[in-house]
Amino acid sequence: MLVLGIESSCDETGVALVDTGAAGGAGPVPRLLSHALHSQIVMHQPFGGVVPELASRDHIRRVLPLTQEVLQTARCSLADVDLVAFTRGPGLAGALLVGAGVACALAAALARPVVGVHHLEGHLLSPFLSADPPEFPFIALLVSGGHTQLMQVDGVGSYALLGETIDDAAGEAFDKSAKLLGLPYPGGALLARLALGGDSAAFKLPRPLLHSGNLDFSFAGLKTAVLVQAKKLGPELDNRKADLAASTQAAIVEVLVKKTLAALSQTALRRLVVAGGVGANALLREQLNAACRARGIRVHYPELEFCTDNGAMIALAAAMRLQAGLVDLSAPEASYTFDVKPRWSLAECPPAPGPAASGA
Ligand code: KG4
Ligand code: ZN
Repeated sequence: MLVLGIESSCDETGVALVDTGAAGGAGPVPRLLSHALHSQIVMHQPFGGVVPELASRDHIRRVLPLTQEVLQTARCSLADVDLVAFTRGPGLAGALLVGAGVACALAAALARPVVGVHHLEGHLLSPFLSADPPEFPFIALLVSGGHTQLMQVDGVGSYALLGETIDDAAGEAFDKSAKLLGLPYPGGALLARLALGGDSAAFKLPRPLLHSGNLDFSFAGLKTAVLVQAKKLGPELDNRKADLAASTQAAIVEVLVKKTLAALSQTALRRLVVAGGVGANALLREQLNAACRARGIRVHYPELEFCTDNGAMIALAAAMRLQAGLVDLSAPEASYTFDVKPRWSLAECPPAPGPAASGA
């Protein structure tokens, strides 16, 4: 069965087509047939962050041409699509509504069902698109611009929250620190590049909640510490940017690695999935790989192109839900009353999220 997925929760419009194989039943990991992405980063850069209204308008411009591109690349037509999926939340309300509206309209025109997908479910299942997919159960470290969470994942739709950030997300800490260093939005990857030429021990920065005894994170204080350090340096900052970048990255990564290892030992699970934009960070990967290798733990990452937001992970999550029997295909018209959930915890995500199941 063919699943068309639409992602529009923030500043990327992503569309993808995946195939669950015969009859959509339990079987091999769904196959990605094609995908297309438009990033709005350049459009938002002059504002130093995402402007929600501009994001919504750009999603409107991009989503149908991207859908046509995806269908053409896969040599399919809209009539071949069996299920339409969209990101229902969390994210920017206006941006989410674009994907929801288009998905519901397409599904209604095709008389096919539509299903709303949790954005973080997409991220944490995204390594299933890689050549070396994980097996359940596993610990998932979700690190993006909006979220930092440790989850225990026992299967599709079975997610237990072990810990999360109480303020800024890890990606936000990267981006805000990068801004203080004069780097453009989103500065995470640029800060990492700058850090390559710096000394990570040059500045003593806090490791918030490192010894809190739980699996929660806090990054707001770190950003303040970077600000204080930058001010203290004054004009000298220009010569010390690489050192400050390296020290900041080391602080964020150390907390992420230590808490992730604690989650693995608490649950005695032997498999780790790292997903979300910050999962692309080379130092994080290096340290997690080394620590996990020493403990005999397998680590899985999505392909680099699927670390940040994309449509493939949304189509995949819907397809895996379909395979797990969590999507009701029997009454398409009942699924067309769409809504979005700008704030939505994955732990609260019902086994069958979306309008079709909730009737909301
Ligand atoms: O998952 P994502 O595309 O969007 C959200 O759902 O938030 O993640 C974007 C975040 C941004 O904060 C970006 O700076 C960060 O991921 N990021 C990185 C790297 N690449 C992307 N942070 C650190 N190092 C990187 N290499
Ligand atoms: Zn994301």
